[in-house]
Amino acid sequence: MKTVHIGLLGFGVVGQGVWQLLQTNQEEISHQTGNKVTVKKILVRDPEKNRVLPAADPRLTTSWQTILQDAEIDVIVELMGGIEPAKQYITEALSAGKHVVTANKALLAQHGSELSRLAARRGVQLRYEASVAGGIPILQAIRESLCANRLTSIMGIVNGTTNYILSKMTQEKTTYEEALAEAQAKGYAEADPTADVEGFDAAHKLTILASLGFQTTVEFGQVYREGINSITPLDIEYAAELGYVIKLLAIARDLEGKIELRVHPTMIAAGHPLASVQDAYNAVYIQGNAVGDLMFYGKGAGDLPTASAVMGDVLNVAQHRNNDHAPTYPLAYQPNGRKVQSMD
Ligand code: NAP
Ligand code: HSE
Repeated sequence: MKTVHIGLLGFGVVGQGVWQLLQTNQEEISHQTGNKVTVKKILVRDPEKNRVLPAADPRLTTSWQTILQDAEIDVIVELMGGIEPAKQYITEALSAGKHVVTANKALLAQHGSELSRLAARRGVQLRYEASVAGGIPILQAIRESLCANRLTSIMGIVNGTTNYILSKMTQEKTTYEEALAEAQAKGYAEADPTADVEGFDAAHKLTILASLGFQTTVEFGQVYREGINSITPLDIEYAAELGYVIKLLAIARDLEGKIELRVHPTMIAAGHPLASVQDAYNAVYIQGNAVGDLMFYGKGAGDLPTASAVMGDVLNVAQHRNNDHAPTYPLAYQPNGRKVQSMD
């Protein structure tokens, strides 16, 4: 049995989800993968906060350097969010030869190409399954299972908070403010929920999906973006009268080499499968020229679904730790004839 020593950066909703998942499933993990996973150190801002571990637990630290310099820690799991200091810590970890797993879509959408190039240069893995659609293994499907296809369309509901808000406003006539407060209490929303309701989070995820799916470097600024903050109960009522529901869709299409990228509220016919995706669930539709149409569905946010994706990455990293041919998830590509079209 091999041991994977993790340095966990962040012990909020997802970080504590990872901890709880390890407490519950350590036996299955060891049995299924031949690895024992140990959380050696945990970086937080405020150790006194009320959490699943007492403030005096020796693993809790406010010092990044003690984690970086711990030679036994071979996998850094970044679950702090935000751009800095997450970018600095991931850069230092990769440069020091440590593998990195992150759920930080905001960082990857803006600096993923630079970080994935650094990982490749250092011969270490950078994996980020949890950054898109929570527990749904969509990136691995695109990168590994569907790699024999030319993908032509990736479209879906990729933000749990806004889907939760729109579902509650539609089904229970909850106000926008009440529904947002519930999504925050359930741990679905970003630290700054503006990222969710104004469509930034979905645009971050679409940047990652389109880069991997179309094998081309996509800039976050190329995604047309509109949020749900101006959707009113009246809009929802009118849509229902016409036989539609309103969903925040993220859409990436390859129209003969011209790539269209957009995030906006969309009226969907009530009978369409995406119309029935409720609460914080996500769904992603993919069209490939060999496989045809596929739909992936599952919990897109929350502690344990997200922890499931994070731990899947950790265990995949462990499995390929000393392997020069580990699967890679690059966000930087040479031009391939597919060009993003401006949507403004
Ligand atoms: P969160 O609950 O706000 O937790 C963030 C944690 O990071 C906290 O423990 C915080 O410490 C720590 N932290 C933040 N800045 C720090 C700093 N400068 N130094 C040390 N520690 C710092 O966030 P979350 O919901 O778990 O999300 C974490 C990441 O996962 C984000 O990138 C998010 O986008 C992504 N994600 C979240 C979900 C979800 O459903 N929540 C799903 C997929 C991906 P303190 O507790 O001491 O303040
Ligand atoms: N805030 C995000 C959402 C978390 O609501 O989808 C999952 O990425």
